[in-house]
Amino acid sequence: MKNFSNYNDFSRKEDLHFESRAVHGALGNDPITGAVSFPIYQTSTFRHKGLGQSTGFDYSRLQNPTRQELERTMAILEEGFEGFAFTSGQAANMAVFMNLNEGDEVLLTDDIYGGTYRIGEDIYRRYGADFKYVDMSNVEDVRAAVTEKTKIIFIETPTNPMMKVADIEEISKIAKTVGAITVVDNTFLSPYFQKPLTLGADIVVHSGTKFIGGHNDALAGIVVVKTPEMAEFIRGQIKTQGNMLAPFDSWLLIRGLKTLPLRMDRHNENAMKVANWLRTQPKVTKVYYVGFEDHINYDVTKKQTSGFGGMISFNVDSLETVEKLLSKLDMIMFAESLGGTETLITYPRTQTHESLTEETRQKLGITETFLRLSVGLEHVDDIIKDLDQALNS
Ligand SMILES: Cc1ncc(COP(=O)(O)O)c(C=O)c1O
Repeated sequence: MKNFSNYNDFSRKEDLHFESRAVHGALGNDPITGAVSFPIYQTSTFRHKGLGQSTGFDYSRLQNPTRQELERTMAILEEGFEGFAFTSGQAANMAVFMNLNEGDEVLLTDDIYGGTYRIGEDIYRRYGADFKYVDMSNVEDVRAAVTEKTKIIFIETPTNPMMKVADIEEISKIAKTVGAITVVDNTFLSPYFQKPLTLGADIVVHSGTKFIGGHNDALAGIVVVKTPEMAEFIRGQIKTQGNMLAPFDSWLLIRGLKTLPLRMDRHNENAMKVANWLRTQPKVTKVYYVGFEDHINYDVTKKQTSGFGGMISFNVDSLETVEKLLSKLDMIMFAESLGGTETLITYPRTQTHESLTEETRQKLGITETFLRLSVGLEHVDDIIKDLDQALNS
């Protein structure tokens, strides 16, 4: 493998498999010292040799070597032009929506993550942009909703929390007919299972807090873009808004990415077993999981992803069962978030989707008996045993 001598001499490693690219990143090691674990450049600013002589790093809001290694690695893994790392998924989405002007319209997945919903309703709507919620699991609904004013089509797939699946390729084609950009929130599957930019999308966003970081220990957001023009725009947002990820958190994500393929495979394997088990439980009335062959969008899932991920939602028979389950679980934790090593159970009605109106929640199915499970990396028998004792004892 090539010896790198400076920060710009990085390789996209197209000859390597995804697993090797995830381990070796962009530079992979520090070009100055050869440090195998990419160093945490904990500095706010950089010394110049003389007038007009920059090392390429001037001030950490603009560039930082550790953040840059993460950003380049994400661009490599998502097969995009350039990546950007933010303080949270919310900050990443905010930066993307800065593309809007007064009078523009956005089409969003109807059961979108509550925080994304708030970005539209509480902030951009005030500046004259319109937000329309569409069931994107039905391509024809998107075709019917799009207008000449549509600037962004924002897809979450699979959706949080109803596990609906949108056809990225078909929706990207619809966006192009009106000159809109397609943005995909790839948080649930990660580039290991789904690469939206290769399917026609223009921008990928992540809550890096979830599977990318993977250990429930850091908040982060990622944007990967396809064109130099969009890269310039997002870079400008970071420069002006100052919402970039700190060096230490960037390092945590670089470390997380090294095991992303292994983790995703185990999340996938465990979730499949847990979903099938949940389906056999008398107190469980419905299970939402994209890996079921009878899932309404199974064909689309098979076409555009190489795995189903670790997320499951389900309904139980009563509020009493919800209360019993949440208080009796032992190893599994009742906590907001997903995508980490630990199995977490969430109550979307009052946690992740609390911002939606009660009417919208009811319409979507986010009812008082609805729960979301992020299946972690523990032994699957222990996960099922814990759910069993909490549900059935
Ligand atoms: C699908 C999805 N997108 C975006 C976000 C926001 O990310 P963060 O919590 O890192 O700000 C979340 C958070 O739960 C999410 O689940």
